[in-house]
Amino acid sequence: MKVLLCGELDAAEWATWHAALSAALPGAEWLDLPQARRDPAAVRAAVVANPPPGSLQGLPGLGLIQSLWAGVDRLLQDDTLPQGVPLARMVDPAMSAAMAETALWAVLSLQRDFYVYAEQQRQGLWRAWPQRSAADVRVLVLGQGEMGRAVSARLASQGFPVKGWRRDGGALEPLLARADIVVNLLPLTPQTRGILAAPLFKALPPGAALVNLGRGAHVVDADLQAVLDSGHLRHAVLDVFHTEPLPAAHPWWGHPRVTVLPHTAAQTDPRTAAAVAAANLVALQEGRPLSHRVERSRGY
Ligand code: GLV
Repeated sequence: MKVLLCGELDAAEWATWHAALSAALPGAEWLDLPQARRDPAAVRAAVVANPPPGSLQGLPGLGLIQSLWAGVDRLLQDDTLPQGVPLARMVDPAMSAAMAETALWAVLSLQRDFYVYAEQQRQGLWRAWPQRSAADVRVLVLGQGEMGRAVSARLASQGFPVKGWRRDGGALEPLLARADIVVNLLPLTPQTRGILAAPLFKALPPGAALVNLGRGAHVVDADLQAVLDSGHLRHAVLDVFHTEPLPAAHPWWGHPRVTVLPHTAAQTDPRTAAAVAAANLVALQEGRPLSHRVERSRGY
């Protein structure tokens, strides 16, 4: 089986994925984009990491597009993405575990004021704040997919009272009023774009915090800045941004109430994800049902 491997991968990353995928599926032949273009009809599947728009056009034999990213919003924004071809997102327990670790670090740091102490250190300030226990800090996890569920379970096991919300799961407003920390793990869809905006922030109790591990476009930056500046929100931990890398002049870099991560909350690990992708390619080969299929009309 000939498989196109392409996307936002430099030569070393392509080679790493190639090695991991070859080990997971020794029978396949892996092509880069120029190789695939030389014999487009032979390409049976594509394994992609945010490929440039248009990359998957003109491949008449394509039976599966397997994303190496969990979020497929950028793929779905490509108008030229072949319509009838099944699209699968990456679902890897190792990735969910990494996400749960990041969420735990952020929530624990907010509970225990560790970001405040980091800022105080920069100011040379020795000042202790009253200590809160995990049981005092109510967490609301937006999104209850693979990642949202893994994060909720990890935080609950650590003693935090956790509630989860999914877009089709009833009213959000009453949950917001009882949340000290909101962790966002929603997929980015037309319905969730801009959801982290003034109305949501205002429904939170004063002193609440935001942890955004979803997508930058979930946030209305100006609204977030306003509630951070006013002190209504005490802190925001942000892993994802409208423009990545985050532009040098962006206010988040120097904001005392913002912690910036370089979109690294949960990286796809070739050592485990290659096996996940390979399992779907084998299913395609054998005509069995494919896993982790994206419903395009739903957006995830
Ligand atoms: C990362 O953001 C991913 O979608 O895998």
